[in-house]
Amino acid sequence: MNNKNILVTWWLWYIWSHCVVELEKNWYNTIILDNLSNSNLHVLDWIKNIIWYKPKFFNINLLNKNNIEDIFKSYKFYWVIHFAWLKAVWESCDDPFLYYNNNIIWTLNLLETMNKYNVKNIIFSSSATVYKKESILPWDENSLTWETNSPYWTTKLIIENLLRDLSIHKNFNIINLRYFNPIWNHESWFIWEDPKWIPNNIIPYIMKVVSWEYDHVKIFWNDYKTIDWTWVRDYIHVLDLIDGHLKSLNFLEKSNNSKWIFENINLWYWYWTSVLQLIKITSNIIWKEIKYVIYPRRNWDIDEFYCDSKKAKDILNWIPKYNIELAIKSCLNYLKKKI
Ligand code: WQD
Repeated sequence: MNNKNILVTWWLWYIWSHCVVELEKNWYNTIILDNLSNSNLHVLDWIKNIIWYKPKFFNINLLNKNNIEDIFKSYKFYWVIHFAWLKAVWESCDDPFLYYNNNIIWTLNLLETMNKYNVKNIIFSSSATVYKKESILPWDENSLTWETNSPYWTTKLIIENLLRDLSIHKNFNIINLRYFNPIWNHESWFIWEDPKWIPNNIIPYIMKVVSWEYDHVKIFWNDYKTIDWTWVRDYIHVLDLIDGHLKSLNFLEKSNNSKWIFENINLWYWYWTSVLQLIKITSNIIWKEIKYVIYPRRNWDIDEFYCDSKKAKDILNWIPKYNIELAIKSCLNYLKKKI
């Protein structure tokens, strides 16, 4: 029986909600902090549908360090999983200071409080966007980082470097998980990525076209040196991603502070899919053509890139299980239920 307290900071509920379900199923006591600026309390009801109770939740603003300290006064935390991020790339390009002030200050307040209360184990939801795009593909954890493409991605890189300082000078144990395109939903279908606003990301957008909310898929340009001239990405199922977080937790637990830990780890499926392939996979499953129109490229988009996740297998024994077809099928099954 574990019953150890773990703090989960969330912002975009999609990934953390899956994480909380798995943590609670593994007997951790999850305490959640969020300011509800981009999530909704009904996610707790969804979680309750799966684990029969709502996890402990505190609606606080991470910009207020005193609020965070009040929580640390009430709970002894063994680990922190930090998901609290603004993550819309276009928004960060439009308003960089919103991202610098939130993503960096939120994290600084959290880390300073952790240090004050001697909570030194953190798993950070980082991103493969920290890699320098000219680095030789596939990017592994030794690939060069820096020269990010957007303020959002810059905040990720800055936090990784702050964490490195703390691991060297303040004995923090850090695991930075670098992933990129998480997709889809819990097998129970109680939790899913179902944005109420126009989705930035391709998979929910395709599903809005399938459910007749939108007329066509916008393909942001098609002159890239890829298999069909459209963007290529390595999409990873959210359940594989969460498995990577739990295996990282086990890794930290096993070390039990016996040695100083600072690990950057890629969580990637190691199979890349183009936008047109995504559309074709979906069309083949629903036996219906999906209309698409070519639009100008997004100025932050990076061409083809993908990472090597050998290290995740070697040190976490993490092997992704869900492929893109399974992810799209599970979403279409959910849509059938919903429509
Ligand atoms: C996938 C591909 C688009 C929408 C984003 C964030 C990034 C990361 C993962 C954290 C791209 C194309 C998309 C559409 C399209 N998160 N596309 N039409 O841009 O790879 O990465 O999520 O680190 O920060 O930017 O994901 O799903 O938006 O796009 O053609 O309507 O689909 O050009 O190549 P992306 P995405």
